[in-house]
Amino acid sequence: MARSAILNVMVQAAMKAGRSLSRDFGEVQNLQVSMKGPGDYVSQADRKAEEILFTELSKARPGYAFLMEERGLIEGDDGQHRWIVDPLDGTTNFLHGIPLFAISIALERQGQIVAGVVYNPAMDELYTAERGGGAFMNDRRLRVAGRTKLIDTVIGCGVPHLGRGQHGNFLVELRNVMAEVSGVRRLGSASLDLAYVAAGRMDGFWETGLSAWDVAAGILLIREAGGFISDFAGGQNMLDGGSIVVGNEIIQRALLKTVRKPVAPR
Ligand code: IPD
Ligand code: CA
Ligand code: CA
Ligand code: CA
Repeated sequence: MARSAILNVMVQAAMKAGRSLSRDFGEVQNLQVSMKGPGDYVSQADRKAEEILFTELSKARPGYAFLMEERGLIEGDDGQHRWIVDPLDGTTNFLHGIPLFAISIALERQGQIVAGVVYNPAMDELYTAERGGGAFMNDRRLRVAGRTKLIDTVIGCGVPHLGRGQHGNFLVELRNVMAEVSGVRRLGSASLDLAYVAAGRMDGFWETGLSAWDVAAGILLIREAGGFISDFAGGQNMLDGGSIVVGNEIIQRALLKTVRKPVAPR
């Protein structure tokens, strides 16, 4: 599989940040950790990885803008391109020694996501996609799962912290989904959730309250693996709106309908 120059830049940056995360993962007990909000931690590992990504990406493409979880928005003078970066997606897993975390890098050109990389250094799984060029894990081409009945599916989700706004709705959504699928999973890293759906490991995924850096790269993985995506309203405002529902064409539609069902009277 031939990668474009820009995708190579993203892969090299992700690998370098991945080495930093792997070193820190080996000694999590020594990391400084602080809390940004309810259930939202940030550690030295997040910041170090972000620093590496910022340095590598801006060295390779000076002038591109950034949207990064820890540093926020950094304007660029190029006017066309923006990197959307989560240096460590799954900080809570990371801090608990659970090897489900990833670096997520997306490149937007004129508001359209054109390349995406999600890298889990603990499992050495590298997910890549370019617009129109397909999605891959390492060198294997990805395709979303083909199951068509909700009752046969395994569906991923995110569980909002009790202190965050969406948790009440989540309980309703979960009840609805539990009744109609074969299993529900919570991996703890939205970028990996999307990568797993692209790889056909899970049949679908839904979550609300997300940020652009959680989903930007994963959105392209899903699209390029033949999957379907919408926000909770059925539109395409996933980056700014924070809600997402994915699957193959049939499962995505069925899942969206299921999560949005009003509470059944008891
Ligand atoms: C979190 C993870 C998690 C999702 C949270 C995100 P972080 O990202 O993606 O799966 O449920 O909403 O904030 O903070 O570990 O980068
Ligand atoms: Ca975070
Ligand atoms: Ca994240
Ligand atoms: Ca993060």
